[in-house]
Amino acid sequence: MPKLIIDDIPVEVAPGTSVLEAARSVGITIPHFCYHPALAIAAACRLCAVKLLDGPVKGIQMSCALPAQDGMVVSTTDPEALKMRALVIEWLMLNHPHDCPVCDEGGECLLQDFTIAGGHSRRRYQGKKRTFQNQYLGEGIHHEMNRCIECYRCVRFYQDYAGGTDFGVTGSAGRVYFGRFQEGQLESPFSGNLVDICPTGVFTDKTGRFRARYWDYQFAPSVCQHCSVGCNTSPQNFQRETIKIVGRRNDQVNGWFICDRARFDKGYLNDPQRPREPRLDGATCGYDVAVDAAAKSIAEFVRKNGADSLAVVGSPRLSLEAMILLARLARAAGGARICYFGDAAQQQGSVAAARLLHEENSAHIREIEQAQWVALHALDLIEEAPMLALAVRKAFLAGAQIFLVDGNPIPERNTPPFKYAAVESLDDVPFEGGGKGIVICGAGRKDPELLAHIASSGAKLVILQPGANGFAAGLLAQEHATSPLTELVAARQVRGVVCFEADVPEGLLSGLEVLASADWRRGPVEAKSPIFLPTTTWVESDGTAINYEGRAQRFQRSRVAGLPLKGLDPKYYGSATEAVTLHPPRVHRKDIPGGAERDAWQVMAQLIVRLGGEPVVEPLAGKWSALRSLDPEGEGVRIFDIVSGE
Ligand code: SF4
Ligand code: SF4
Ligand code: FES
Repeated sequence: MPKLIIDDIPVEVAPGTSVLEAARSVGITIPHFCYHPALAIAAACRLCAVKLLDGPVKGIQMSCALPAQDGMVVSTTDPEALKMRALVIEWLMLNHPHDCPVCDEGGECLLQDFTIAGGHSRRRYQGKKRTFQNQYLGEGIHHEMNRCIECYRCVRFYQDYAGGTDFGVTGSAGRVYFGRFQEGQLESPFSGNLVDICPTGVFTDKTGRFRARYWDYQFAPSVCQHCSVGCNTSPQNFQRETIKIVGRRNDQVNGWFICDRARFDKGYLNDPQRPREPRLDGATCGYDVAVDAAAKSIAEFVRKNGADSLAVVGSPRLSLEAMILLARLARAAGGARICYFGDAAQQQGSVAAARLLHEENSAHIREIEQAQWVALHALDLIEEAPMLALAVRKAFLAGAQIFLVDGNPIPERNTPPFKYAAVESLDDVPFEGGGKGIVICGAGRKDPELLAHIASSGAKLVILQPGANGFAAGLLAQEHATSPLTELVAARQVRGVVCFEADVPEGLLSGLEVLASADWRRGPVEAKSPIFLPTTTWVESDGTAINYEGRAQRFQRSRVAGLPLKGLDPKYYGSATEAVTLHPPRVHRKDIPGGAERDAWQVMAQLIVRLGGEPVVEPLAGKWSALRSLDPEGEGVRIFDIVSGE
């Protein structure tokens, strides 16, 4: 363990740690651009200069590329080092357009921060500036090449880390160019990370350009809900609109990055057409009126038909809190049936995953990255769990063998960033590797016997779930011995349903009485429901989701519910005439337009009380109370001990 002294502070770090990281470990930030903990060292920007006063190395050195060694005496504030850093900033700024007041990176720009911190405030250079032409990179990313400081972070991420082949660096000397090799949009499904990784404003999120500044945003720690990986994100909201979604570091789940689906697929959150008002028989009504009507309708239906003809239906879209209360609601209704899944195959797979996985055999991202072999079982990884493709790539680059077992050909647009061998069956995969081998199963092919066979092989397992919270749905479906809705309907055991964020296909609804539904999106259930209650999305609510590896993570409300201010119908300003004359609108309202939505679990809690059940003080009760103190900014906790503890 090298022991060194940095700015008079003794430091001891693991072998291989750079001086920059060693300084960071004791709270000293050495200015840097090209260094990024997730990427290989380039030492391209020359900003991280420090002076070595004594020890095995002497003089000015680049701290990002210098491994800490015993006996080093480092100064980060030596006048020579400061002078070098100031000169580097000045030279990096030679060709920079200095468009800070209007640059869409303003407030999030490392160059701006370090230019000011480095004391460079006066331009001495009087020559002509180098300028570039920008490229069209697609709908997601805007290109502004003049702001480039040639740190090579983008190309190290795009090519080396994510395996993209259509983007890179061309040119030479003072005219190196970072862009696509041919006209066209970026092809990598991870291209959005260029926005976060570029320390200047060369790549910015086109979908949120010039809408707000960093300091305008409301944000909070959140968890992506697009697949069961559960990557950590931070939605950035302005005036009730989610403008950007950026990655949030969690070394146990997604490292530093997220996929493009998470970053760009957000229009539904802001959709003015989202159902936002409670309805009774087609007419808008107050929330309590709708809840009263739903409770009355449930009680009447149960009295006439018996509780077991009624199903309360949820889905893997629900938070853990709502899933837990779904079972309590079924009890309050006199013993209604509970469905967490519409489809039998989905339920079988999710329940099998919940039964088979435990602390030792459930693989997480670090184990995937360090695997000796990975078998993808009938799987399109980019489609079903994009960020895991980057973990498999890491393993591949470290020498792991990758097999695609029994799979359909992967569509060209989803070509994974690693080479693999297609084999017919799992027998062709060398299971002897045991703990160093990992099988990743696709959501579409979860035959429980096959999963049990795989689980008995000694390999570690990744079983992807249908939906962000599919693992929790599988656990609770197992705990309450529930049946999927399709089976109950086929056996004619259910005649009426109350649905919570459940995507029940239209065909299944014929012959069923929909008593009430609660959702944040439109669909056949919502259309058919005489009583409708709008619910919040995950950016408007607090909740817990359990990812594919059994890790519970908390997401936090990052904006209030309601219609986005931008494009708000003039009727909400007071009157259409006022809307035209007043800008910004100055009619003050007590309530938020379209802001009637409530969290699904709160709707259930109200129904439980109306049906004669106990008031819900805290939805995470019983064994789940261990999760109450879960830190949304932490790494989450695996729930296997919690589940087996009861
Ligand atoms: S485009 Fe951005 S990330 Fe790439 S080299 Fe230039 S400044 Fe660095
Ligand atoms: S891999 Fe899944 S959870 Fe992660 S960012 Fe992409 S869609 Fe979201
Ligand atoms: S951060 Fe060290 S040279 Fe760029």
